[in-house]
This record gives sequence, C-alpha cells and structure tokens, in this order.
Amino acid sequence: MPDASSAAVELRDVVKRFGDVVAVDHVSLRIAPGEFFALLGPSGSGKTTTLRMIGGFELPTEGEVLIEGEPQGYKPPYQRPVNTVFQNYALFPHMTVAQNIAFGLEMRGVPKEEIRRRVSEMLDLVRLSGYERRRPHQLSGGEQQRVALARALINRPKVLLLDEPLGALDLKLRKAMQLELKAIQEQVGITFIYVTHDQEEAITMANRIAVMNKGKVLQVGTPQEVYEQPQTFFVADFIGDTNFLPVQVMQVTAPVEVMTESGTRLTASWAEPTLRTGVKAVMAVRPERMHLYRPGSGPEGPEWNRVEGIIRQVIYKGLDIRYEVFVAGECSLHVRMPVGRSEGTFQRGEHVIVAWPRAAARVFRSES
Ligand SMILES: Nc1ncnc2c1ncn2[C@@H]1O[C@H](COP(=O)(O)OP(=O)(O)O)[C@@H](O)[C@H]1O
Ligand SMILES: [Mg+2]
Repeated sequence: MPDASSAAVELRDVVKRFGDVVAVDHVSLRIAPGEFFALLGPSGSGKTTTLRMIGGFELPTEGEVLIEGEPQGYKPPYQRPVNTVFQNYALFPHMTVAQNIAFGLEMRGVPKEEIRRRVSEMLDLVRLSGYERRRPHQLSGGEQQRVALARALINRPKVLLLDEPLGALDLKLRKAMQLELKAIQEQVGITFIYVTHDQEEAITMANRIAVMNKGKVLQVGTPQEVYEQPQTFFVADFIGDTNFLPVQVMQVTAPVEVMTESGTRLTASWAEPTLRTGVKAVMAVRPERMHLYRPGSGPEGPEWNRVEGIIRQVIYKGLDIRYEVFVAGECSLHVRMPVGRSEGTFQRGEHVIVAWPRAAARVFRSES
C-alpha cells in the first residue's frame, strides 16, 4: 500500500446518513494514483453516495474525504480536482461534439489555439476524429459516452469519477466500451473510480475492487483476490458462480474439515475465522474447480474431495460444458469442464464422481 502522502483519494471512516437511512456505513478506503478502482455492489449498497461524497455533491455525516492528501471539507464540486461522468451523459444537445468537449476549457478562458489542440487530442484519444461537427443526436450511445468521457478528461482532472457510465448501452457495445475505457485509462494514467453493480465489468476493468453491501465495504482486493479468496459468503455469492454445500464444521484449524448432511467428510483450505466446531456452515467451490470422473477413477488422497452423483443436465456452451450433478441427500452441484478433456463428455443419467481439491474449497457462515 502507498503511504498517506501518495493516496490519490482517501476516505477516513466515512458515514452518510439520510434521516434514518445509513447509506454509507464507516467506509475507509485508500486509492492509489493511476489506479482503476471499482466500487462494486448491488443496487442500494451505497456506491453512488460514496462517489458523490468524493465529488463534493454530498458531504459526509462523519469522517473525511482527502484528495491527494488534502482534506476536502466543505469544498463544492468545482473546487475539487475531480470530474464526473454519469450514466445519462448529459451532453449539450445544441452543441457540436467539438463544442461539447471544449466546454470546460472555454469556461476557464483557455486560449483558442490551445483549446483547438486539446480538443483534437481528445478526439484522437476516444477515436472520434472526423466527428467534431456532429451533434449528440447524430451519435450512437457508445459514441455519446465517448464524447462525455472526452469532455471530462480534457480538464485533466486528478481523479475521474464514473457512475455506471455504460449502464445504458446494450451488452455487446458495453463489452467493447469496457475494453476501450480501460485502454484509455491506461493511456492517460488518471485515477478512475468506477461504480458498477456488474461484477463481470468490475473484474474486466479494475486494478482493485471494493465490494460493498448495505453501506459497508466488505472486501478490497484485486479481481483475482476477490474472486479466488472471498472473505465472506456475500462476496463469494456476489462475484462469479459458486456452489454452496451445506455442511457442519468438524475442525476449524487448517486443514479445515467439515461433514456433509449425509456424512461425507470434506476438507477445505480456509474457514471464516468466526466459525466454531459443530456449527452449520457452507462450503463454497467454483464450478470450474470441480471435475467429473467415471466411478472408480479420478484423484484420491487427503488433498482431494470426492462425492458421488448423477448427471441431471448437460449444457453445451462452446468453450465448456456445464453439468448439473445431483448428489443424493445433499444438493445439486454445478460443474464446468473445458471441451476436449481426456475423460470425454458425460451423459444425462450417468453415475459420476465429482472431485475438487482442498485448495479450491472455502467454508463460510451461511447467511440464510
Ligand atoms: N438523497 C437521498 N435521500 C435519502 N436516501 C438516499 C438518498 N440517496 C441515497 N439514499 C439511500 O441510500 C442508500 C444507498 O444509495 P446509493 O448510494 O444510491 O446506492 P447504489 O448506488 O449502490 O445503488 C439507498 O438505501 C438509498 O435509497
Ligand atoms: Mg448508484
């Protein structure tokens, strides 16, 4: 982690209340310069409110917001070294693309020649050269969003705040824009703080992700960390697909041991620290970490978990095959296997062994 002087944005124990509603609940974050940082969480988890407090559109009820080490206090948005891109891009409809992009510099009285040069740089950056005379209604949604981005970046903010900026685009365009936005961020090197409820989007774009729920930050980490080492049931459930097996805890210290409802012993690499022997819990395993074998084959030994099941459904997805496996007395497991494995494919109704390594299993308090 960078030291205090080098954080681009820091939140210190920030709380925001609206009457009785606690929108943001004791959030502390440190975002490094040049980071692409995502605030990820379901609707109502406090992402927008957090972003608005950084931008100066809301003031914290408690705690403080620092930008480049400087407490922002009551500073209004225009006195902060940040710019914001909202979901509804709010371009000026009567102005051309070039005029929209130039707007911030015009307001600050920047010389004409410099404005022309910087607008042209920005058009290059967002790949809209040749579009300068068009008006917003003559652009697609993706193009409008790129104009909004250029309009914000031309002011050379220290930090760019983006609130679900791709939310209005259709899926294919959104995917293309995710990669484009990330490339632009890497090119300009400005700190991006990006709000989204879409876990795939956060994983694709961000250097680090803060996972939020009910106003709290539950976990901060790289996409790989939050995906592979979730610290809570919520994070494991919210990010990616996960199998949850109901179990009872037998041993909480490593190697963690649990027992399924039908008495099969399983082992895990990690258990939530608050768990105690004897309590009910869930074992979480990603579908791609489970493997299918024919009865009598597959890996065995203390590092492996094995259960028997029957294939209930087979879905061919091109790159992989998704199996639903019914495990008697337990639950259904979802298994994802790449096409072209030596074991071949399995048919509905077949008896199989589902095996997964201890390293792929984590045990959580169940939230239900
Ligand atoms: N101006 C407001 N007045 C009252 N409640 C608000 C206001 N803004 C947000 N909230 C509440 O705060 C919580 C968090 O909202 P928000 O930050 O918009 O979440 P998100 O962006 O994650 O969907 C929600 O319960 C929301 O209803
Ligand atoms: Mg929001």
